[in-house]
Amino acid sequence: MEVIIRPDEQSAARLVGGIIAKELHARPQLVLGLATGGTMEKVYDELARHHREEKLDFSLCRTFNLDEYIGLAPDDPRSYRAYMNRQLFGRVNIDPRNTHLPDGMARDLSAECRHYEHLIHDCGGIDVQLLGIGRSGHIGFNEPLSALRSRTREKALAPTTIEQNAIYFDNDPAKVPKRAITMGVGTILEAHRCVVLVTGKAKADIVAKAVEGPITAMVTASVLQLHPRCTVVVDEAAASKLQGTDYYRWIFENEPEWAEFRR
Ligand code: F6R
Repeated sequence: MEVIIRPDEQSAARLVGGIIAKELHARPQLVLGLATGGTMEKVYDELARHHREEKLDFSLCRTFNLDEYIGLAPDDPRSYRAYMNRQLFGRVNIDPRNTHLPDGMARDLSAECRHYEHLIHDCGGIDVQLLGIGRSGHIGFNEPLSALRSRTREKALAPTTIEQNAIYFDNDPAKVPKRAITMGVGTILEAHRCVVLVTGKAKADIVAKAVEGPITAMVTASVLQLHPRCTVVVDEAAASKLQGTDYYRWIFENEPEWAEFRR
């Protein structure tokens, strides 16, 4: 795992956008795992900018989102499908047929979860998985005590997550769907590369637990410590409870891989 600390939210998102743009330039058929939520909006702005200004080509890119609420139709503006259409798919030259989210309206949800795993497998697996971390420590909707080898499945949302996401549902926790389909922790760990973005003071405690605490199912994101290629990008506010910041900064300044991103 590597931790990169950027001065603010904007430069953290710019770095993450830059990493993904570089991967997509190098491999136009990239299989990209995507996340939703407030933090990711700036990353999608960056990717749209790369497309606009540098003609970053999404035409062969295939995407798989981490999760979708159960019971929300794709055209419901609060669904993650609608979010992705707004934030990214409608702003770049991606073929909509290459974009995948679990179907939260499927009649047979277990069959839908199995189908989603097969689709990922048939594409050769995920090359780069974009991740945020929720206040509950979740990645995707893998809430505390999610099995660390779990696959795509239905999951009940933790109360902290319902509270966190109520802003998208008229600030009314009662309106937040209580269940979702999410890629499993095992599914996420199979991605060849994970890029995690976490910003803001409210996430400082959970980032410290995920990065420097023990690997535990109580903090799902801590399992990323086992991933062979995981980069965690944080702003100063989210980094404020980390112990090892001098070391992380030293690595960022000295690893040749990051030279082009230091500017
Ligand atoms: C959503 C997802 C979640 C979010 C996390 C952070 O697809 O994967 O794990 O990344 O809840 O959300 P924000 O950025 O809204 O704090």
